[in-house]
Amino acid sequence: MNLKLVRKPGGTPGGQEGRFEAVLNALADPVLVVGADSAIEYVNLATEQFFDASQTWLCERALSDLIPTDSPLFAMIEQVRASGASLSEYGVTLETPRIGSRLLTIQVAPIPDNAGTVVVSFHDRSIASKMTRQMDSRNVARSVTGMAAVLAHEVKNPLSGIRGAAQLLETGVNAEDRKLTRLICDETDRICALVDRMEVFSERPYIERGPVNIHQVLEHVRELAKNGFARHIRFKERYDPSLPAVAGDRDQLIQVFLNLVKNAAEAAPKVGGEVTLTTGYQIGLRLAQPGGRRTHLPLLVTVEDNGEGIPDDLRGNLFDPFVTTKAGGTGLGLPLVAKIVGDHGGIIEFSSEPGHTVFRVYLPVYRGPEDKNG
Ligand SMILES: Nc1ncnc2c1ncn2[C@@H]1O[C@H](COP(=O)(O)OP(=O)(O)O)[C@@H](O)[C@H]1O
Ligand SMILES: [Mg+2]
Repeated sequence: MNLKLVRKPGGTPGGQEGRFEAVLNALADPVLVVGADSAIEYVNLATEQFFDASQTWLCERALSDLIPTDSPLFAMIEQVRASGASLSEYGVTLETPRIGSRLLTIQVAPIPDNAGTVVVSFHDRSIASKMTRQMDSRNVARSVTGMAAVLAHEVKNPLSGIRGAAQLLETGVNAEDRKLTRLICDETDRICALVDRMEVFSERPYIERGPVNIHQVLEHVRELAKNGFARHIRFKERYDPSLPAVAGDRDQLIQVFLNLVKNAAEAAPKVGGEVTLTTGYQIGLRLAQPGGRRTHLPLLVTVEDNGEGIPDDLRGNLFDPFVTTKAGGTGLGLPLVAKIVGDHGGIIEFSSEPGHTVFRVYLPVYRGPEDKNG
């Protein structure tokens, strides 16, 4: 493929190249081809809008004319040239006089057989806004953390006093009144259990990150589910057996996938309900963290179901506490999942349509003892 296909005078619109160009121009995301010398060789229509400049003008420029060279984009391009593998980075802020400051997901991919030439694409809304939602859910989890600590201290301690007093009274009253002291004990137990459930949110100083075999985690979760709440569900597994270990806490990861599988099983139809567990490795997915730190998140675990899908009005705050559509639901499952995934430095996102809902969890690889206290 000749990459200098922009405005090529003799370009046949119906030919292969015309087709490629039409396809690229139909994309909503800016796509640029950048040569070894940083010269812009091709831009699609969306790039015109993005930089508010014409294709011809852009193709006479170098990338460094548009974007400051200290931008992380240039480091990414260098890395892709050196490694020959593509790279995505979430949550990169691109700041230029032309476009102002934008939060983007940037993808850079090498073009085989074109030494040093790369394709750069910017994604503005989709993943970036999912990220914001994820960050919001972390903040919410943090406020729940504070609440959990208050509940534990201010509610549980007096409760044990109340319970003790009721037990003392019980010994000296008649059968009729004993019903009432029992009632006090039972209700305080119930409140205690609720507070205990909140306590999982309380802040832990750090999580112990060992190497965790995610397939063992998923098989354990499936076993628990099969013998409990998901008897009616047909499970499918699509595991990548070569997957390296996750850097994480086994018990907490079990909690994550147990919650996701439980939601999936509850959403799936009573007859013909299916839950699919998938694992895979993808090179080049990184999360830009505040302070310029980057986490590589190449491990992807998905939980899919064939249920009705997530109601539209829930999508914006699915990870908030107490959001539930279930009679007897707590709405604490997904906030807990978001907190644990966040504590691991990972990302969770979802997509949902009637008949197909997917939760995707991106996690870091275990690289050695230096990973331990994340
Ligand atoms: N796989 C799914 N399919 C459809 N809806 C879902 C799914 N997972 C979660 N939800 C929705 O998100 C809500 C919150 O889930 P969660 O935080 O686990 O609390 P709970 O399960 O107690 O309701 C659920 O009540 C449900 O409406
Ligand atoms: Mg749940």
